Amino acid sequence: MARGKKIYEGKAKTLYEGTEPGTLIQYFKDDATAFNAEKKDVIEGKGVLNNMLSEYFMVGLGSIGVPTHFIKRLNMREQLVRTCEIVPLEIIVRNYAAGTMSTRLGIEEGTQLPRPIIEYCLKDDKLGDPLVSEEHIAAFGWASQQDMEDILSLALRVNDFLSGIMYGVGIKLIDFKIEIGRVYEGDFQRLILADEISPDSCRLWDMETGQKLDKDVFRRDLGSLTDAYTEVARRLGVLPKNQQPVTKPTLIN
Ligand SMILES: Nc1ncnc2c1ncn2[C@@H]1O[C@H](COP(=O)(O)OP(=O)(O)OP(=O)(O)O)[C@@H](O)[C@H]1O
Ligand SMILES: [Mg+2]
Repeated sequence: MARGKKIYEGKAKTLYEGTEPGTLIQYFKDDATAFNAEKKDVIEGKGVLNNMLSEYFMVGLGSIGVPTHFIKRLNMREQLVRTCEIVPLEIIVRNYAAGTMSTRLGIEEGTQLPRPIIEYCLKDDKLGDPLVSEEHIAAFGWASQQDMEDILSLALRVNDFLSGIMYGVGIKLIDFKIEIGRVYEGDFQRLILADEISPDSCRLWDMETGQKLDKDVFRRDLGSLTDAYTEVARRLGVLPKNQQPVTKPTLIN
């Protein structure tokens, strides 16, 4: 499919105008960044895996009635999505303590939380995406009270869906981050799930061994990120048949 002009180059994806009005093409890059881009590398095959995995989760969520921006996958690295106005918040859902929550509150990583805990961070790289409260969100008008109710119920549905899918393949969903977009239909606005769902935006631990299968492998230098993401894709049956996105030599028999 012909791409329109480049609209935005982010850390993990590039956005192009889609061919239809109201659409965008998301190109998944191999770039990996952590700690607000202080740590950077190119991980061969990551973009392909995230494109396939995000498609898998978005299609699944769509089939249970969660509205998403996903329209169709175009090729190994690109998907067509519906353009939306991104709510300037990162919505984090936590089932077990990890990462910044563990550091901030002194809770050991892996401690199960009494119930899913939702956190909001302001999407602002210059400020390092600071944690904000619902009071800030209301006072500064980043989202309305109705938006916040819709975001909460959407985030919890995504959590139940993803937790179940992961449980089925022996993976614990520790936490994840989503982005929400606004779309306008006549006089109405609706909120839909946007951006991506992939091991870049989730913490995934093997249920038996506790092995990390997400971006912490890169953040903490725990081994091959491609191997970790490939393992998630393999367990979910997402890898294209006879095709490994890794360029390592493979034995053919
Ligand atoms: N459907 C959509 N419509 C418009 N923008 C979108 C949509 N889905 C995702 N985006 C935005 O596209 C960009 C994707 O690029 P990427 O994830 O690489 O950005 P990033 O480097 O993480 O930066 P940012 O801080 O902007 O998220 C993000 O800014 C994201 O908010
Ligand atoms: Mg991003």
